[in-house]
Amino acid sequence: MAFTFDDDAALLAPLQVGDTLAGNRLFMAPLTRSRAQADGTPSYLAAQYYAQRASAGIVITEATAISKSANGAYVNTPGIYTDRHQQKWAQVASAVHYEGGHIFMQLWHVGRMGHPDISGVHPVAPSAVAADMTAHTPDGKKPLVVPHALEMEEIPRIVADFRAAARRAVDAGMDGVEIHGANGYLLHQFQSDVVNQRTDAYGGTAENRARLTVEVVEAVVDEIGAGRVGLRISPGNGVGDVRENDPIATYEALLDRIAPLGLAYLHVLIDPTQTTFGVIRALWSGVFVLNTGRETDTDFCQLESFAQWGAVSAVAVGRAFLANPDLIDRLTVGAELNEPDVATFYSPGPVGYIDYPTLAELEARESA
Ligand SMILES: Cc1cc2nc3c(=O)[nH]c(=O)nc-3n(C[C@H](O)[C@H](O)[C@H](O)COP(=O)(O)O)c2cc1C
Repeated sequence: MAFTFDDDAALLAPLQVGDTLAGNRLFMAPLTRSRAQADGTPSYLAAQYYAQRASAGIVITEATAISKSANGAYVNTPGIYTDRHQQKWAQVASAVHYEGGHIFMQLWHVGRMGHPDISGVHPVAPSAVAADMTAHTPDGKKPLVVPHALEMEEIPRIVADFRAAARRAVDAGMDGVEIHGANGYLLHQFQSDVVNQRTDAYGGTAENRARLTVEVVEAVVDEIGAGRVGLRISPGNGVGDVRENDPIATYEALLDRIAPLGLAYLHVLIDPTQTTFGVIRALWSGVFVLNTGRETDTDFCQLESFAQWGAVSAVAVGRAFLANPDLIDRLTVGAELNEPDVATFYSPGPVGYIDYPTLAELEARESA
């Protein structure tokens, strides 16, 4: 049965998100689409794709690499570290703004999830522990390699790259950035007491494991202002061996340091029935964005009820926005949703990217 918003739906109410006034509380979650050009410049179709989805309260872009060595988890993923990247992203930002939307760029360092056949460089990580996973390289599936454990003197460069990428994102016209601290990538690898085996100031205690994320967030806030910075985390949602044995202590230590900075938002990918959800929620008094990260269809009824009773400020939705550029309109009138086509999630070209029909287009086709 299709879900229909009430006229006074909480998710349809505007929300001040740092410096950005979002028109509603249903955000588009970051979605890697593997359609960027070979040098990491966004696809020729990216502006159209994002503009089609501009009615999201905030569009969060696909994960975007902060440097060449930060890339390489998938083929054809974009970057924001050259003038050419910045120029193309500026077209994306202005297309979304033209349609009346707001857009934050997700900033990404893949760490040990990068494959040298994709990025052209050897991956780095907190410790020399390979992920027991394969990468889809141009020559097919290959196992991930043992990463280079970052030396203490190499860490400031990572922080500086996040800072420079945030500057470029804002100069390209992005309303803000979301720092990717989730899903098993570099910052999450540092948070994890399983894959972070360091014995220096960046490993061991929860405070030490949080240190890199804190330094990155502080640097980005210093560069572009807290009102333009979000952070995504996935507490207790491990990817392979990137998990925490003590998610609550780990994220308490992180949020103790991050909360006073006054970020635009915290974006949490979590199953809201987990105890960790309540603990994390209680630690954050600012804008709290939930992504339930389910395998099943999005439960909009549940998300609306969370927003109504204040458990969340906003929600982020991925696959439903991917397949329904006019998601807000459809939920407003209670229309059926297009089904996402998994086969074209990461395939090149326009199919499954910019050709999901809106309701109006479907109706026009039917009456033709
Ligand atoms: C095709 C695809 C690409 C994704 N890419 C990213 C990404 O770039 N960054 C990220 O943080 N999460 C990424 N995710 C996770 C989504 O943001 C989201 O957490 C997940 O899809 C669950 O939300 P949903 O049920 O609303 O789709 C991706 C998910 C999918 C399906």
